Amino acid sequence: MESCLPFFLHSFCFTSLVLQISYALDSISAGQNITDGQTILSASQNFELGFFSLGSTKNRYVGIWYKKISAGTVIWVANRENPLNDSSGVLKLTPQGVLTLLNRTNGIVWSANALRPAQNPIARLLDSANFIVKGGNNNDFDDAIWQSFDYPCNSFLAGMKFGIDRQKGLDRYFTSWKSADDPSPGDFTYRLDSSGYPQMILRNRSKVQFRTGPWNGIRFSGVPQLRPNPIYAFGFVFNQNEIYYYYNILNSSITSMLFLKENGSIQRSTWVDQNPRVLYTPTQTDDCDTYAFCGANGNCDIASLPKCVCLTGFVPKFPIDWGFWDWSSGCVRRTEPDCQGGDKFLKITEVKLPDTRFSWFDKNINLQECEYICLGNCSCTAYSNLDIRGQGSGCLLWFGDLMDIRQFNENGQDIYVRMAASEVGGSSSRITGTRKSTGIIVSIVLFVVFLLGITVIYMKYKRAGKIVALSRQSHTSGLLYLHRDSRLRIIHRDLKAENILLDIEMNAKISDFGLARSFGGNESEANTKRVVGTFGYMSPEYAIHGLYSVKSDVFSFGVLVLEIVSGKRNRGFNHPDNPLSLLGHVSVKIFQISVYLSSVSF
Ligand SMILES: *[C@@H]1O[C@H](CO)[C@@H](O)[C@H](O)[C@H]1NC(C)=O
Ligand SMILES: *[C@@H]1O[C@H](CO)[C@@H](O)[C@H](O)[C@H]1NC(C)=O
Ligand SMILES: *[C@@H]1O[C@H](CO)[C@@H](O)[C@H](O)[C@H]1NC(C)=O
Ligand SMILES: *[C@@H]1O[C@H](CO)[C@@H](O)[C@H](O)[C@H]1NC(C)=O
Ligand SMILES: *[C@@H]1O[C@H](CO)[C@@H](O)[C@H](O)[C@H]1NC(C)=O
Ligand SMILES: *[C@@H]1O[C@H](CO)[C@@H](O)[C@H](O)[C@H]1NC(C)=O
Ligand SMILES: *[C@@H]1O[C@H](CO)[C@@H](O)[C@H](O)[C@H]1NC(C)=O
Repeated sequence: MESCLPFFLHSFCFTSLVLQISYALDSISAGQNITDGQTILSASQNFELGFFSLGSTKNRYVGIWYKKISAGTVIWVANRENPLNDSSGVLKLTPQGVLTLLNRTNGIVWSANALRPAQNPIARLLDSANFIVKGGNNNDFDDAIWQSFDYPCNSFLAGMKFGIDRQKGLDRYFTSWKSADDPSPGDFTYRLDSSGYPQMILRNRSKVQFRTGPWNGIRFSGVPQLRPNPIYAFGFVFNQNEIYYYYNILNSSITSMLFLKENGSIQRSTWVDQNPRVLYTPTQTDDCDTYAFCGANGNCDIASLPKCVCLTGFVPKFPIDWGFWDWSSGCVRRTEPDCQGGDKFLKITEVKLPDTRFSWFDKNINLQECEYICLGNCSCTAYSNLDIRGQGSGCLLWFGDLMDIRQFNENGQDIYVRMAASEVGGSSSRITGTRKSTGIIVSIVLFVVFLLGITVIYMKYKRAGKIVALSRQSHTSGLLYLHRDSRLRIIHRDLKAENILLDIEMNAKISDFGLARSFGGNESEANTKRVVGTFGYMSPEYAIHGLYSVKSDVFSFGVLVLEIVSGKRNRGFNHPDNPLSLLGHVSVKIFQISVYLSSVSF
């Protein structure tokens, strides 16, 4: 028998040398066995358990696969690290209730570690795909001494508990397959981390790649797309013995589960009436989901450009790296808090809460007490509510750098970050919407003022030059007169602040025509080997190639306007952000403003 899976699910073909007689039973009892070729089926025949191979390999595995939908998608493998190399395997249930996989020489290839021995044990494949071993004297399935759901592979099915059970010593987490035809553990694990306030962490070997963020009573802080839906209900249990996430399917005609794929992506696959439906990636949807994309104390906003900003009160640790959009070095405080009781907390809204691995929490105290506790411990950097339902409850504290914060537009959470009092100028600023729209308004106002200023100065300048000091022109001429109206086209070539004189009525006059050149009526451009004039006011084509025209004066005029508007000299201009001239700086600013304006929607 051979059946190929739909291309979108698994790219391998599922081959099993299954005898066509299957037991059509859902269980085996003590002393009974399943040999290669035999299978058992769950009561409503949704799932099948037996021996199989993957792809073109000869390796034989014992596992569970879908019987009706998606033609044999394997969801659990017993001997994933220890395949058989022929069809001599036997899966046996011992009289003590231990499932054991034997090879040709009766060597033990795999066995299930039951919690305790059982009387008259029975092993049954349930319709949930859970394969359980229990005592045969009662029908209580919760009384299982072993169940496959406690030893998941790469599939998170409805009814499983994703997390830990301290009493039973269980840690249920997911491990990717090595490849489509090798189910042995690959690089990726998706696991509950309970070292601080619990959160789920996806790792590539030891490297954290993504975290869900802590549970906030409604969903995981970093997974806003997790919301009530018609397919499944979900929840989080957190008590002294157990911490786990779970989900249940709401409609029996729907099948849905999560897979941790070989490449580390987590995908939910759903079937309605046995037809494949929605297939989406619930985690790692963009760059901001990558762990610590913006480094320590950075905030990742996928909607802004660049994506990373420092939290308010923080500045890039290595500004040059940030300038090149390498944010990994993160941000440091501009001013250290004094820790003398005078520090303030800045509220940042609509975010994914930072990494809670180094956090402290108390479910029973409120936000005010939380602030008080944080204030009293100098290494406490931030606090928030644990549970956002209703008015909010519980207290979560962070110590040290705030890692892996991202900005949401909705369904984010509030966090209060410790600041030196001088950083919090009375009003607390919001990082989201408000800051953005304020930014837009300020940019627009500045831009309009800038345009008006240029117009006013230009108009003033155009009327200027009634008396041009040395040429004794009596016309209302200025620069425009020299270029257009005078008999000879005159290029001044040395227009600069020093050569603009003001009369008693503050009208501007152009002076010093020592370097001026005249053109005949039809000429518009000329070339010179001797470039004269003043650096900083010369257009690039004149300074470099000696090419001058009326445009050269217009360039100088532009520089002059910038100097008037900014009150700074073009050359000798100094700005901590960049080592350019005033002109270069303004060009960069205008570029940045236009990029900023194009990145926000009005
Ligand atoms: C498996 O069960 C069959 C009887 O159904 C028995 O003949 C065989 O010896 C058993 N094999 C093992 C390894 O116990
Ligand atoms: C399976 O492995 C055993 C032990 O390594 C070896 O003796 C046997 O030849 C192998 N069988 C096949 C079919 O490769
Ligand atoms: C059977 O399994 C045992 C224990 O794992 C191993 O030592 C032995 O080589 C295996 N025999 C074959 C034929 O694979
Ligand atoms: C379950 O889903 C099926 C198929 O979409 C639909 O026809 C049916 O009404 C649903 N049942 C309930 C109780 O929602
Ligand atoms: C996982 O990490 C290793 C380095 O440890 C890297 O080579 C590999 O590309 C990573 N895998 C993915 C899918 O990102
Ligand atoms: C991982 O593989 C799945 C198919 O198995 C594919 O849909 C997905 O885009 C891949 N993700 C990445 C990040 O490569
Ligand atoms: C502050 O909190 C840290 C982490 O919980 C703790 O190790 C330290 O002892 C506390 N310091 C004070 C002064 O309470």
